[in-house]
Amino acid sequence: MSATVCRFPPGFLWGASTSAHQVEGGNRSNDWWRFEHCPGSIADGTTSGEACRHYERFDDDFALAAGDGHKAHRLSLEWSRIEPARDRIDAAAVAHYHDVFASLRRHRMTPVVTLHHFTNPLWISDQGGWENPDTLDRFAAHVRFCAREFGGEVDWWCTVNEPEVYAFRSYSEGTWPPRRRDDTAAIAVIANLLEAHGRAYRILHAEDTRDADGDGRPAVVGFAKSWLQLEPLRTWFPLDVLRAHVENSAFNQAVARAPVTGEIRLGIPGARPVKRRVPELEGSLDYFGLNYYTRWKVDSLSRDPHVATPGSRTTDLGWEIHPAGFEEALILAAAQGAPVLVTENGFADATDAFRPRALVEYLVHMGRAIARGARVVGYLHWSLLDNFEWADGFRPRFGLYHVDFDHPDRPRTARRSAGIYRRILADNAVPSEVAAEVGLAL
Ligand code: FCB
Repeated sequence: MSATVCRFPPGFLWGASTSAHQVEGGNRSNDWWRFEHCPGSIADGTTSGEACRHYERFDDDFALAAGDGHKAHRLSLEWSRIEPARDRIDAAAVAHYHDVFASLRRHRMTPVVTLHHFTNPLWISDQGGWENPDTLDRFAAHVRFCAREFGGEVDWWCTVNEPEVYAFRSYSEGTWPPRRRDDTAAIAVIANLLEAHGRAYRILHAEDTRDADGDGRPAVVGFAKSWLQLEPLRTWFPLDVLRAHVENSAFNQAVARAPVTGEIRLGIPGARPVKRRVPELEGSLDYFGLNYYTRWKVDSLSRDPHVATPGSRTTDLGWEIHPAGFEEALILAAAQGAPVLVTENGFADATDAFRPRALVEYLVHMGRAIARGARVVGYLHWSLLDNFEWADGFRPRFGLYHVDFDHPDRPRTARRSAGIYRRILADNAVPSEVAAEVGLAL
């Protein structure tokens, strides 16, 4: 056996992560499509359009991932395709997702299926989105439908993606639909998404009784939480310290605790707090889905209070590359009690200049977190393909595979990182020569 820097647990779920709207293309039935077509919404002036044409090309894409040794694949079911109008199920969309799961099965990849990844059907958006309590009932009905329809093909469910990021961008910062700037609404929306998770957890366990992979667990249910480290820019300056503490409590700790305790306690200065107990939420994590990208330093005196550590290495989006932070986030996530599945981690790097090394560094730190006792069951890299990065458009490139968006067929080309990842997966370890090749002296 060749020398390794670190080994990962047997049966580790390696793979990549995507979301429907960012890769599929051609869906006009959700709020993002409408938003993109309002001038000024997207930084680079693009719209998602045909995106990666993954809706047609999923089988080829899964062949690429399987060829690289991926064992799992995270995708989202697009609610607006399945139910484009209230109570109207689109049979063709349902058949499509059955084909997707059949393809994953053929390629021996475990599906990890997100039920809400930022987009809403237009009819949900038009009834007031996640501020309207009826949306919780409609989402519950959608979850029940998916559990019954796809439960025989899916065991790993991810109820909602990043409730706090969604609420912050859409309702506080106002850069995503429905473009609100109201912190009280943002807090209410986080609470509603947490409640939606708790209800979905119970529904999935009640309705998905078919064990797709034969391991005795027909439904393994979690949510995905973005652990965004927030630290004071100046540790000696009380306002930075206070603001970092308040934001960390609201966006990290409170959101991470709620599915454990069943208590939603959310508050930030200037907004009406939420304090409510949701019985379905208590003990509702079979795994903790961790999305980790970066840390921000909090500069309380600036109009733009979140900055990268001065002098640090950053990605094309200006996000600090901070591998030790990933290790800490894994420890904190694992401390919530459930095993951790890394549902997203990756880098915007159009030329793949720093991704190979950063990827290896992050994985080495994941190995250290595991050695420190964190129970981590898998790692899904964001992303398999370059894709539509929400309000930043197509410019940030997160793919292990480059996608040529100027070509009608959207050809994919492996980046060096895809090969590095393949070699790590093949050994279930970081081989010493891979670490050396990317310039890491360990
Ligand atoms: C996360 C999102 C994902 C992608 C990455 C870069 O916040 O869940 O869809 O946009 O960031």
